[in-house]
Amino acid sequence: MRERFIKIPGLIDTHVHFRDPGETHKEDFYTGTSAALAGGVVCVIDMPNNKEPITTLQKLKQKEEVVKQKAVCDYGFYFGTSEENSRHEEIEVLNRVVGLKMYLNLTHGALFVSNLEKIKEHFASWPKNKPLLVHAEEEKVSMVLSLLKQFPRRVHFCHISLKEEIEQIKKAKESGLPITCEVTPHHLFLTEEDEKALGPFGRVNPPLRTSADIDALWKNLDVIDIIVSDHAPHTKEEKLSSLPPPGVPGVETTLSLLLVAVSQGKLSLERLVDLTSTNPAKIFNLSSDHKSWVEVDITESYLIENENLKTKCGWSPFEGKRVTGRVRRVFLRGQKVYEDGKVLVKPSFGKNICQ
Ligand code: DOR
Ligand code: ZN
Ligand code: ZN
Repeated sequence: MRERFIKIPGLIDTHVHFRDPGETHKEDFYTGTSAALAGGVVCVIDMPNNKEPITTLQKLKQKEEVVKQKAVCDYGFYFGTSEENSRHEEIEVLNRVVGLKMYLNLTHGALFVSNLEKIKEHFASWPKNKPLLVHAEEEKVSMVLSLLKQFPRRVHFCHISLKEEIEQIKKAKESGLPITCEVTPHHLFLTEEDEKALGPFGRVNPPLRTSADIDALWKNLDVIDIIVSDHAPHTKEEKLSSLPPPGVPGVETTLSLLLVAVSQGKLSLERLVDLTSTNPAKIFNLSSDHKSWVEVDITESYLIENENLKTKCGWSPFEGKRVTGRVRRVFLRGQKVYEDGKVLVKPSFGKNICQ
């Protein structure tokens, strides 16, 4: 008989955009972390492309104050690169963040660095023991790989989506470069065909790709270090406007989607745990907490439905998809924090992992 419940380590989602402060009509830290718990995620690391980007110590401190009273799961922050803050002299910043995020392509928000000299300054001055994360698409991946020869350091590639990109990263890893990379569920399960059907609700950066790209990602699963949601909520109204912003929500659907892949034999449960918990903890120097876990009913099958989601934006690109494996209970630092759709702790229970 197949076991009904499984217990796995709580997921660590190191790539979310919870929009707080500045765009809390899309999401806030309470709704975002509630959605995280519903998805079996016990710790999130939030991106710096807030309405007012997190590129100074003052902005970072303001964000810490706002978020403190709203989080129901643990969390950390990234600092953002600008063309003015490339010297990283403010040591106080370093102790308050998990890593530095650099946007090498234009996307939602004002964070974008194009000046090569400034990019080099960031590569040279950000401490070697703290990850530097890059949003790099297509030729920007090659650019980062060649910069690494001049400025050897750890770099983490966000949301790799193309066959050429994953093959380049594979080669670079084989040559000994200390790089890591992540892939999102939307790039593993949705194609450009789905984007046609989804319209603006399938618009995201990097965009959804071809089935040949998806096959290449699955084929190179051993090159992928972590799976993250890149949870990037926008309201339905914004998505239906004449200029829909890029981004799709996903923090509460990652685990169920990956469990479907497990049930289809595309992924082992052990590898799922590595990709969503063990490896993120290693890469981002997070202490892995053995008292945080998720209980999943792997026999329960259900439809992903917009009306049942906890994210404030209220929609998912996976709506209508049948998944198997329902998160029943979540324990964080030994305490039951979530059970059968209900968050059981106050909005100050979540801790900033850098403090
Ligand atoms: O599609 C995207 N949305 N890509 C990004 O890099 C940013 C994100 C957002 O913040 O909405
Ligand atoms: Zn990005
Ligand atoms: Zn992102």
